[in-house]
Amino acid sequence: MATGDGLHSWRDTQFYRKLNLFYVGIIWALYLVQSHLMVLWNDFKRNDGCRSPSTDDAACEPKEGDIDAMGHQGQRNEGCSPSYSCIVTGASSGIGKAVAEELAAKGFYVILGCVSPQRGLEAAEEIQRKHKGAAVEVRALDLSSPASVVSFANNIALSLGAAVPPRPLVLLINNAAVIKIKRTWTEEGRDYVMATNYLGSFLLSRELLPLLEKAPRARIVNVCSFTHRAVSALYTDEPSLAAGGVYPVSSSASTAGTYMPGFGYQTTKLCNTLFTNELHRRLFVERRKLQSPVVSANAADPGAVDTNLLREVPVGLRKFGMLVLAALGLLKSPAEGANAVIDAALANEGTSGLYYFGGKGRHLKGSQLACNEELGRNLWETSSRMFHSH
Ligand SMILES: NC(=O)c1ccc[n+]([C@@H]2O[C@H](COP(=O)([O-])OP(=O)(O)OC[C@H]3O[C@@H](n4cnc5c(N)ncnc54)[C@H](OP(=O)(O)O)[C@@H]3O)[C@@H](O)[C@H]2O)c1
Repeated sequence: MATGDGLHSWRDTQFYRKLNLFYVGIIWALYLVQSHLMVLWNDFKRNDGCRSPSTDDAACEPKEGDIDAMGHQGQRNEGCSPSYSCIVTGASSGIGKAVAEELAAKGFYVILGCVSPQRGLEAAEEIQRKHKGAAVEVRALDLSSPASVVSFANNIALSLGAAVPPRPLVLLINNAAVIKIKRTWTEEGRDYVMATNYLGSFLLSRELLPLLEKAPRARIVNVCSFTHRAVSALYTDEPSLAAGGVYPVSSSASTAGTYMPGFGYQTTKLCNTLFTNELHRRLFVERRKLQSPVVSANAADPGAVDTNLLREVPVGLRKFGMLVLAALGLLKSPAEGANAVIDAALANEGTSGLYYFGGKGRHLKGSQLACNEELGRNLWETSSRMFHSH
């Protein structure tokens, strides 16, 4: 549950927040164009129209052993068995729904983690109408609430543990996210957007890890965004991260009640990317060195997609943005946006630590900050401390 903060200052006005969104909208559009140009440049360099198993554009600099010699990056492992389960968070609409549909059509048993079970059921019915025999199930999940995340994970463990025949969990797609126009806090006193977009996914991944580790090969995919490229700093001490990570909590900007919706959202998307890289290092690279079972992790950036994400943004601003993106040919449908997520999810075994963007198995480097190992480690450690009692 979220509550308004009740603080008022001249900077905490609707006008100021709209101005911030207009400003970040322009910056985000520039980074979106940059991402597409990077894809074109990579395609041009290869000049063969298809992806070769090169490592030179991995999310960060891949080190020896990061990528399995047998893993052909950029190709999808299309074969899957109906006896495998996957979880998609935020699957009631937009990209999450399109991803759930695609995975169900490929024969996975898909669990839709939805904050509104009613909207989840509507999505599940739609998927089953389109794909006869699709195996989908809806479960309540509010990522902003640690109690809800833990109970969701416990229930999944119980039901998958009792499934006959077994349905190992092989994929966790951390997709759900929000943009809030007004600052909201969770019951735990955390920024609602950070709690939903990043902290909830961190906790869910941690809680489901024992199940993922039981599968023959499992993967976590975090849905990220080109907007992470606009972030120039992230504050990872516990009070600052709980307040959104945009400012050090001691600064006046943080305590005066100012809320910049665009800055808040893009910071959570940087966290998603840092988290993916840290998962890759801890669960894939380190474990392979120890010859332990690995869990791979990829990031997926769908690009600009026409969804409900901007539902709280004033309608004029939203329509203007959509029109500009559509005119530039950069606005995708949810099904097109889902392509990068499906690429990241179904990339061949041995593929990990990549940032997928642009479909057709293409991937890019994340921003410099997203590749900062020390920042990733600090973020992980703070996040772990925040949930030590759960
Ligand atoms: N759209 C874009 O242009 C774009 C670009 C780059 C990256 N992305 C990323 O793509 C992902 C999907 O976004 P989208 O564009 O498809 O937006 P969307 O249509 O608004 O979908 C977001 C989903 O998250 C769910 N959700 C919201 N709060 C939740 C909570 N507390 N707990 C659990 N689920 C919650 C929503 O459920 P309800 O609908 O029931 O509220 C919805 O199903 C996000 O990670 C976003 O950052 C989107």
